[in-house]
Amino acid sequence: MSTHPSCPSRLYRLAHTCLGALLFSASVIAQDLALLEEEDEQIEALLERMTLEEKAGQLTALADNIRSLNPHTNPDVNQRRADELLAEVRAGRVGVLFNGRGIKGARLAQHAAAEESRMKIPLLFAGDVIHGYRTVFPIPLAEAASFEPELAERTARVAAVEATAGGLHWNFAPMVDIARDQRWGRVAEGSGEDVYLGKLFAAARVRGYQGKSLASEDSVLATPKHFAAYGAVSGGLDYNTVEISPQTLREVHLPPFRAAFDAGALSVMTSFNEINGVPATANYELLTTILRDEWGFKGFVVSDYTADMELIAHGFAENPREATKLAFLAGVDMSMQSGYYVRYLPELVRSGEIPMTTLDQSVRRVLRLKKALGLFDDPYRSLDPEREAVDLKRPEHRALAREAARRSIVLLRNENELLPLSKSTKIALIGPFADDRQNLHGPWTLFADEQEAITVAEGIAAALDDPSLLQVVKGSDFEAPLPDGIDAAVQAANEADVVVLAIGETQQMSGEAQSRTNIVVPAAQQRLAEALSETGKPLVVLLRNGRALALQGAVRDADAILVTWFLGSETGTAVADVLFGDYNPSGRLPVSFPIEPGQQPFFYNHKRTGRPYVEGGPPQFKARYREAPYAALYPFGHGLSYSKFKYGPVRLSATTLPWDGFIDVSAEITNVSERAGEEVVQLYIHDRVASLTRPVRELKGFRKIYLEPGASTVVSFRLTREDLQFVGPDLQWVAEPGAFDVWIAPSSTAGTPSTFVLEGKPSS
Ligand code: NOJ
Repeated sequence: MSTHPSCPSRLYRLAHTCLGALLFSASVIAQDLALLEEEDEQIEALLERMTLEEKAGQLTALADNIRSLNPHTNPDVNQRRADELLAEVRAGRVGVLFNGRGIKGARLAQHAAAEESRMKIPLLFAGDVIHGYRTVFPIPLAEAASFEPELAERTARVAAVEATAGGLHWNFAPMVDIARDQRWGRVAEGSGEDVYLGKLFAAARVRGYQGKSLASEDSVLATPKHFAAYGAVSGGLDYNTVEISPQTLREVHLPPFRAAFDAGALSVMTSFNEINGVPATANYELLTTILRDEWGFKGFVVSDYTADMELIAHGFAENPREATKLAFLAGVDMSMQSGYYVRYLPELVRSGEIPMTTLDQSVRRVLRLKKALGLFDDPYRSLDPEREAVDLKRPEHRALAREAARRSIVLLRNENELLPLSKSTKIALIGPFADDRQNLHGPWTLFADEQEAITVAEGIAAALDDPSLLQVVKGSDFEAPLPDGIDAAVQAANEADVVVLAIGETQQMSGEAQSRTNIVVPAAQQRLAEALSETGKPLVVLLRNGRALALQGAVRDADAILVTWFLGSETGTAVADVLFGDYNPSGRLPVSFPIEPGQQPFFYNHKRTGRPYVEGGPPQFKARYREAPYAALYPFGHGLSYSKFKYGPVRLSATTLPWDGFIDVSAEITNVSERAGEEVVQLYIHDRVASLTRPVRELKGFRKIYLEPGASTVVSFRLTREDLQFVGPDLQWVAEPGAFDVWIAPSSTAGTPSTFVLEGKPSS
């Protein structure tokens, strides 16, 4: 859709926020870019005086052992004791410290850099603030289910306020990798399988993190990652190789990065994977030809953690010296954790293998960003103990966490309108996640305290008219049965009106290095579900998950299913809000739930093939599995509400779209229920015939609308040629004249299309 990506999806906020966002991002880009483009005397003077080691030091990021380092985030490589690290800082051999906690230690380290080192260049403090700092918001995948980029902008803003109150300047987020294989554990960290949705969320998060200007004390520099195609790892296995066509790379995996840069992101992190034989961290085409020459990126590139060192394990570099040279000359400005740059860059420059001008250019980029962040004026910006004490505990942050959490929940199924429940229902809350506090946050919450999060049992008990209506039984452990667990659960179920079953994945099953072969609910929990289903009691499944799962048996057939992902600090309250109807669910799936795990990779916007299976048609010699069609159980875009919406026919302003013109596509949506609610109205297209085959459907727009009972509204989208473009055989974006199907529908498989024709370019 040719609207600005910052426009919010909720109609009733449209006028105000859309304009605000437009002005906002434009000013950030202009102001910060100017700083990066103009020659800066102060920085040039520093470069004149710096030794080679000091220059390489500015291009070196190390884990922050001076403060208390968050453990278990990354493998132990090149770790230093606090005193060793301080000595390195004083010697100017490190420019960035990451993932440390607490202002006190940060001030100590900053003192060593800004006051005790020869060049007095301040440190940059970085961290992985993926979905909140102290206040934990839903995992990014969950937030994408809200289909409200504007919500993600707000949670990112709060994350930035808290991160800077905790002493960070640079955030290793957002993760903008498109994930089409649900076995990959890092699906949880991104916005799902669709590129259009991914672009909007990438841009929104960048705006939220960077705020009005990088120099504000509550702004963090954003880092779209992992550049690139990390989500396309073969077999969904983390760190695995990527074999990909240049078209898919450019059409699916690169656009969210471009959207993040257009929104003002001024750093980027490389990915661990290779792409068609060349590791991303030594990939000149990616890091220089595309990023700098084609896109004009002005910020700096950081390697992922030891990714330069890993060029050796990839079999791409012979030794550390060569790895350094390959990564640096490909376009990696800064090395994370290996220490290779500070060790090998000076001699590579002395030997003439790396030109001094190239080294200076990378150092200049880093120093300019430090300056843009205001660190040259005040090295102690964002290191204020008073702000730390106040800004990490703001009630409005928790209120936003609750809002974001309930907006992220997806109602997959609701037979006989079992939900919402009345607050006088006798509930048996069963399952290992019922009263568990260790798996509320999800992966990557290094700065939060799980004791501050609200469990499902706490949330439900607080919402019920009488907390004694609730009985909580574990029933099973996460991956193993409990002695007499099922018996106790069945007994509780028999005594209740409704069973609410909290099952799914632990947070250790998602995130980095947590790929799964079999994306199902673990067997012990599945057995519990089967036993509970046999009681005949109405069954509500509360799914805890960091990816799409293949739901089976009693879980799949439960009367109601709520996808609750990892919702963060306010999990329990948000779940109760939805369960009892204080909030009418409005989330939609950003990833398709397959029928069988073996369908992976599965995504809604796949190609047709030469033998597409048509539902209800003959199955022989068609593109389908023996056990399942080439289809989802719950497709991308699916999600129910307690309201019911009726879609009128798709109407077109014309049946032809002139080459330089537009058409408006609209449909009337009516709330045919007695309850006010929100609907995500989705626009899809399909290019019938093209010089390269096109997906069965592609999302091109959506609006989240709010309708009172009985109310109707016409939702209209404008399509131009640009919306119909794809990356053609010559790697250029192209729109080809011809027929297109267009849907306005509640999901990626629903609705009836209309058709229009894109006319050819008029001869001039
Ligand atoms: C490795 C991860 O891939 C990356 O996302 C993260 O930012 C770094 N470790 C630093 O923790």
